[in-house]
Order: sequence, then C-alpha cells, then structure tokens
Amino acid sequence: MDTLGSWKRTHYCGDLRAADIGNEVILMGWALRRRDHGGLIFIDLRDREGIAQIVFDPEVNAPAHAVAEAVRSEFVLAIRGTVIPRPDGTVNSGMKTGEVEIQVLECKLLNRSKPLPFMLDEHSDINENIRLKYRYLDLRRSQLQSNLILRSKVSQLTRSYLTDNGFIELETPFLTKSTPEGARDFLVPSRINQGQFYALPQSPQIFKQILMISGFDKYFQVVRCFRDEDLRADRQPEFTQIDCEMSFIDQEDIITVMEGLIARIFTEAKGVTVSLPVERITYAESIRRFGVDNPDLRFGMELCDLTDIVKGSGFKVFVDVSSNGGIIKGINAKGCARFSRKDIDDLTEFVKIYGAKGLAYVKIENGEWHSPIAKFFTPEVIASMNSAFGAEEGDLLFFVADKPKVVNDSLGKLRNHLANLLKLTSKDVYRFVWVTEFPLLEWDEEEKRWSAVHHPFTAPMDEDVSFVETDPGRCRAKAYDLVLNGNEIGGGSIRIHQEQVQSLMFKMLGMSVESARSKFGFLLDALEFGTPPHGGIAFGMDRLIMLLTGSDSIRDVIAFPKTQRGTCLMSEAPSHVDTKQLRELGIRLAEKAV
Ligand code: AMO
Ligand code: AMP
Repeated sequence: MDTLGSWKRTHYCGDLRAADIGNEVILMGWALRRRDHGGLIFIDLRDREGIAQIVFDPEVNAPAHAVAEAVRSEFVLAIRGTVIPRPDGTVNSGMKTGEVEIQVLECKLLNRSKPLPFMLDEHSDINENIRLKYRYLDLRRSQLQSNLILRSKVSQLTRSYLTDNGFIELETPFLTKSTPEGARDFLVPSRINQGQFYALPQSPQIFKQILMISGFDKYFQVVRCFRDEDLRADRQPEFTQIDCEMSFIDQEDIITVMEGLIARIFTEAKGVTVSLPVERITYAESIRRFGVDNPDLRFGMELCDLTDIVKGSGFKVFVDVSSNGGIIKGINAKGCARFSRKDIDDLTEFVKIYGAKGLAYVKIENGEWHSPIAKFFTPEVIASMNSAFGAEEGDLLFFVADKPKVVNDSLGKLRNHLANLLKLTSKDVYRFVWVTEFPLLEWDEEEKRWSAVHHPFTAPMDEDVSFVETDPGRCRAKAYDLVLNGNEIGGGSIRIHQEQVQSLMFKMLGMSVESARSKFGFLLDALEFGTPPHGGIAFGMDRLIMLLTGSDSIRDVIAFPKTQRGTCLMSEAPSHVDTKQLRELGIRLAEKAV
C-alpha cells in the first residue's frame, strides 16, 4: 500500500472542466467503476463533488497501469495526471466532467476495500435494512451526499437569516425534566441521584420561554428533540428543530419573520421563489374543506357536506347518522367511474382504518347514477347532490356518514390517497399554507379529560378567553402551523405569560396543583417575575429537507437514522448493558427484560 507522502490534492474529481485541459492535477478518491479495454483501463474516480474519468495507458506509465489492473470497487486511489479532452464521440454531456478525462502519469493505491455487500449504483433497489447496516457505504451514494450537503446549506442559511434578524443562538439542556409535547419521554437514569431520572427534551419549549423571561428577546437554536412515539416515514425518535422564540410580539410578527426565513431557504437552497405572504386558512375551514389540519393544496377534490340534502332521504344509514348528530360528507373522484369493484373494495378497506363503517359510492355513467344506493333517493335529491358535488359524466362519488371526526378523518385521508393513485401531485410544486385558530383543547376519550391541542403553554384567543372554563371545546388558541404540500413543517403559538392563566390551564388539563408544581413549578415561579408577552415556533428541519430534496422518507436526509423499530442497524443500538453499569445506577431489570 502507498502513502500520501508529500502529495496534496489539487482539485475535487467533480470540479474538472474543459478549462482545465492541459493542466497537471492530483486527485484522490474511490474507484467507482473500472473498465478494462485490453490496453487502456478507465476508472471512474469519485469524491464528494462528483466523478472524473481517469485513463491508464501502459505506454504512458506501465507501473500505474499495473496498479489499475488490480483495482476493484471502492479501492482508494491518489493519481497525478494531465487533463485532456475526451476523444471525439466520447463526450458525456450527462456528466459535469464529461468533456474531459485524466491521463494518469502516476498512481498510488492508498487502501483496498472488501467486496461490497451492495453496489453503489444509483438505480439499484437495495433493501433498506442492508443500506442502514452499512450506512457508511450507503452515504457514499451521490443522492445521499447531495441531500446532506443541502441540509448543511439550510442550517447555514437559517443561522445567517436569524442572526441578521436579531436572534441570538443559545443552547438548552438535554438532560432535563419532561416537556409535554404529547409523546412519551426518553429517560436517562441518574447515577449520582439513584432512583431519579432525567428526561431528554421533546423540545426546548419551557427553556426558550424562560430565556424570554430572562430578557434575551429573540432566541433560536438548531436543536435535537427526542420523542418516544410510533415512527412513520416522516417521524424519527430524535429529530432536529429550527426552534425560535420572540418577546413583545404578536402572531403577525412571528409569521412575517418566519415566512422570510422559509422564502430565503427556498430561494437560496433550491432556486424556488415562494410568493409572500403565504396563504392562510383557519383550522375550521381546513377541516370543512379538506378533512385534515394539514391540507395539500396542490389539487382540488374538496369535501362537500351533504347532511342537509340527505337527512330526509330514504337511505336509512344516512338518516340515522344525521338524526344522531352525525354528518354525511362526500368527495368527487373526478373521472374515476372506470374504477373496478375491487378498486372500490380496496378504498373501502382504506377508509375503515380511520373508523368509517362503509364507503357508499355512485358512478355517473350515461348521465345516470349507477349505485347500490341510487334507489333510496328521489330525482330531486339526486339533482341537489349532483350540483353539490359538481358531478359530471365519468365521475365517481364517495360518501361517508358518521361522527364528524370519523367523516373528516377518513375522507381527508381518502382525498390524499386518491391524489396519489391518480398522480395528481408533483414534487416540484410547493404549496404553502398557514393553518390558524386551532382549538385550544380537545377531549381525550381514553383519559376522560381535556388535553392541549398544541401544548399547555399556548394562549387562548382574546375573544374566546371566557370559554376556557365554560365551553373548553369551543375555545380557539393563538396557535399556527405551517403546512407544505400536506406536511406539517412547523408549528407554534403565542404563549400564556401570566401565572394565573397558566395555572388555570393546568387545572383544565386535569392536573392537581401539586402535580402542576412538581412538573412545572420552575416555570410557574418564573412567570411571576415580570414575564414579557412572547411566542414562537419550531420547524421540523428533517421534514423540510425531505421536501426540499424530494425524498420519500425522512431517513434519507439524516446521516444516521433509526428504523421503524427505533434501532440503529449500524451501531446496533439500543443494546444490553453490563450488570456492573446497571448496579451503579441502582437498576435491576424485570425478569422478562433480561
Ligand atoms: P411541534 O411538536 O409541533 O411543536 O413540533 C414542531 C415541528 O417538528 C416536527 N416534528 C417532527 N419531525 C420529525 N420527527 C418527529 N417525531 C417530529 N415531531 C415533530 C414537525 C413539527 O411541525 N415546542 C413546540 C414549538 C413551539 O410551540 O414553538 C413544538 O415542538 O415538523
Ligand atoms: P348496506 O346497506 O350496509 O349494505 O350499505 C350500503 C352501502 O352503503 C355500502 O356501499 C356501504 O359501504 C355503504 N355504507 C354503510 N355504512 C356507511 C356509512 N356509515 N357511511 C358511508 N357509507 C356507508
């Protein structure tokens, strides 16, 4: 094996262009592909910036050519050579360096590689578990390299924008007390204080509010958050937030500064202009029109409410539901009358996941309703429904009747599902929307108590304050989410800044005075020492990068992500620990956990 000796790299492989022709260069990188033309050997040498084609000619340098003969995938090389134009007819316009190649004068073999468990070819469909086990190899693929390089750029842009706008970057602790963001905490046992635990923060929420009380005025942090919850394609147990808080402001101030941040990121990292101000929709309108609080505005197919039209009809299911306080809503799958019985059965199974008991449907063919339920409706009711749906020849109408939550959930999810099936969306279109006026509290059927929709520190809207105690479900909050193409990329609120209101909120959440004090006593104390009005927001940085890079999974924008089961296949975390370590912590495992 050779050493670098005094060699210094002159260029990245991916940076060479026609303007470099005639120059002598030193390149270092990995052998991606080798082609032996019996005589000439071509190797694609790869580094972070791209690929250069290097040519070994036995007539030019026989020892270098001999080294090249033994090179296999991912061997590490350093070469000294001359940049020359590619011969006529061999220019590769699909490659940044496609006009040139490098005639090798000298070659050093810096390291070998075992045969790879999978090829780094961009198009090969490798099982994700293998990719995660050998993450260091997976990360060599150009797609993942460019995802993470873009991620770095977004961090830099964020820091510079927020700093330019007067925000101060401060750190908050990881070994801390529980912060309620609705998930389970990850706990860390204390060795020094046996039997006691730190919680890893679900977000820096309480600390950033305390920094406002301390007078820092504007804070930000690009910060890891930890949540023990069921994982999905857009959720990780540890993820990164762009976390912000501001004092002496209202919702408009926060929205304005944050729109500026998002616009700057999209322009500079992606070349996409975000037209400002971003559209807004209230939570109530979002649920009414789209069934969900994270609407995808890239396509139509809005939900329509048919309750008033069908409540007096002859279809028992609809009549019963409406007389029991339920609603009947529908969605027009435009042009889908061609769907088969099987397609419709699959969609029926799909809505059942969200609690729907059935999915009634109507095909509009030859100007008429074709449906098992058509017989229950008079021509007048059918005409009213057609006009509510905007129904036309070839359409397929779907109906769900149930409690409002089930109807909105199932049709909202069906709307997104149909858009996927019908390929109605493009990843290159970016539709932002602020969702505002969220409810403050929602009834938790399992726990039989009210729970905070955003978090317990969110302030009620001024006009709804009187409902907090009298009609909690009706009270709206000063809370807002930023949604991009159906993904919640950020959420925040104006906070409660008065101790009495915060104590009332804890009481509404079913917390005793003692329990509120033991969990949040430090915040309640701090609130009594001159707390300024304040509020903030946090963006999910991983989700943002996922959308910016067009990735299907959040795992493709995190260097070392966890699997759906919360494991790291590379390091094999979580793992058992020594009995000695446990003894030091004063912990004994239950039989079945050993
Ligand atoms: P929230 O809980 O809405 O608010 O989180 C803010 C944003 O973080 C992202 N996010 C996640 N991303 C990946 N994996 C997860 N498990 C995950 N959970 C959340 C989402 C979300 O919009 N302290 C408040 C913010 C505030 O009020 O200022 C908070 O954490 O994109
Ligand atoms: P049934 O009378 O139960 O055979 O149902 C007739 C049609 O109505 C079927 O297509 C069912 O899927 C549908 N259906 C039943 N219950 C509901 C409901 N709650 N909402 C919407 N459609 C329903």
